[in-house]
Amino acid sequence: MRQPIIQIKNLITAYGSHRVLNGINLEIFKGETMVILGRSGCGKSTLLRHIIGLSKPTAGQILIKGKDITQMSDDQLIQFRRTIGMLFQSAALFNSITVGDNVALPLREHTHLEESTIEIIIRMKLEQVGLSGFDEFKPSQLSGGMKKRAGLARALAMDPEILFCDEPSAGLDPIVAVGIDHLLLRLKKAFNMTMVVVTHELASVEIIADRVAMLHDGSILACATLAELKESPDPRIRQFFSREPDEETIDKDRFLESLVGRSA
Ligand SMILES: Nc1ncnc2c1ncn2[C@@H]1O[C@H](COP(=O)(O)OP(=O)(O)OP(=O)(O)O)[C@@H](O)[C@H]1O
Ligand SMILES: [Mg+2]
Repeated sequence: MRQPIIQIKNLITAYGSHRVLNGINLEIFKGETMVILGRSGCGKSTLLRHIIGLSKPTAGQILIKGKDITQMSDDQLIQFRRTIGMLFQSAALFNSITVGDNVALPLREHTHLEESTIEIIIRMKLEQVGLSGFDEFKPSQLSGGMKKRAGLARALAMDPEILFCDEPSAGLDPIVAVGIDHLLLRLKKAFNMTMVVVTHELASVEIIADRVAMLHDGSILACATLAELKESPDPRIRQFFSREPDEETIDKDRFLESLVGRSA
């Protein structure tokens, strides 16, 4: 039987009386791309931050290769983070240093590699993301899509076993976005990486997802293939896929229409 590389058990996160995650259970298998899909504010980034150990949940367990990262010391967490890559929603590049130095950061921080070896790795990683020759550029000289690629090159610098991406194609034009999605797909196939991708972009899901976990109000409504989700009878899932507005929004529209009608 396939062994999960990530197991999330009864995860709860509360900020004061506000429960953001409400008992999440999820298993992610080695080599698969799991997309965490859900509406804005449903808790996607919060869940991702817990999985990479950037913040601790209120309760529950997150086992990565059998080890509970919610119980790790700071030193153990640093060790753990060397084995994963993270592409942040904003790419989170350091603007004062070059793209090449951004990619080199984890290598200089976590390894004792010779500078000449690091230079080779920088060139290799930039080539993998389609940014050959941009190592001397500053992040401010790159377009939005190129920044995401550079962030991806840095996330890949340490050859991670698991890659996490928060909204990799959000805010990009559709053509650039589809380029990032295909790049993720190619990287996954080339390196057999496990990927966990947070998004609310259905077009991305179509391209990259092996399975999709649908998050809604802090709970996982369903975890299945995209094709299976599209057949779901659950009205909350159907609403997401048919892009229908909330009743509340419809009521507001009716109210506005009635006002316009009155003034006409
Ligand atoms: N540190 C915090 N303190 C208090 N509330 C927080 C904190 N972090 C997140 N939240 C709340 O948790 C909820 C989920 O936030 P989160 O950023 O995880 O949503 P998201 O699904 O990633 O949304 P988006 O798609 O807009 O990025 C929001 O209501 C947010 O206000
Ligand atoms: Mg988010």
